Amino acid sequence: MSNKILVTYASRLGSTSGVAEAIGKTLAENGAEVEVRRMEEVTDLSAYDAVVAGSAIRGKQWLPEAMQFMRTHQAVLRQKPFAAFLVCMTFAMKNGEKYRPHVATFLEPVHALVRPVSEGLFAGALNIGKIESFSKRLQFRLSVLFGVWKEGDYRDWNAIREWATSLGPLLS
Ligand SMILES: Cc1cc2nc3c(=O)[nH]c(=O)nc-3n(C[C@H](O)[C@H](O)[C@H](O)COP(=O)(O)O)c2cc1C
Repeated sequence: MSNKILVTYASRLGSTSGVAEAIGKTLAENGAEVEVRRMEEVTDLSAYDAVVAGSAIRGKQWLPEAMQFMRTHQAVLRQKPFAAFLVCMTFAMKNGEKYRPHVATFLEPVHALVRPVSEGLFAGALNIGKIESFSKRLQFRLSVLFGVWKEGDYRDWNAIREWATSLGPLLS
């Protein structure tokens, strides 16, 4: 495995931060030197041998700051092993797993900039009380009322650890 791996993430309500921390912990347990950082804190990738980047999904897309990170660092990222992940609620829908191919398309704008060696697609968490705007809270309360999804934490720590473990040989 590479010596030093950056795990960087964009999160609004905290669930993606937890996923990034878990990925970093697994990589470290498997022998890598790992730093986990919010994307806004990262200005220079030269110290890292490989990068794992992920974002919460809003409106079927990575957060704007995550796409900005990709545009800013695309040239450097093409020179290093790079893996991408996303965290979303689609998998928490009824039979959510059947939407996996659809969820994979959320990463197409990322592919267009840098081709990842691997992609992790994970369920996240929905806590409507934490959503910033009244209109979005209302929208989500209605979607819960209509049975689209339920509030709760759907992060699958085993799946997250399994993916992080699989990255070992790919990031070297
Ligand atoms: C305003 C808003 C828009 C969202 N849009 C989507 C979406 O298009 N597809 C989806 O699967 N999940 C969507 N989600 C669910 C989030 O991706 C999920 O709650 C994720 O865990 C949030 O990550 P964070 O806690 O790191 O911000 C949305 C959540 C919010 C609050």
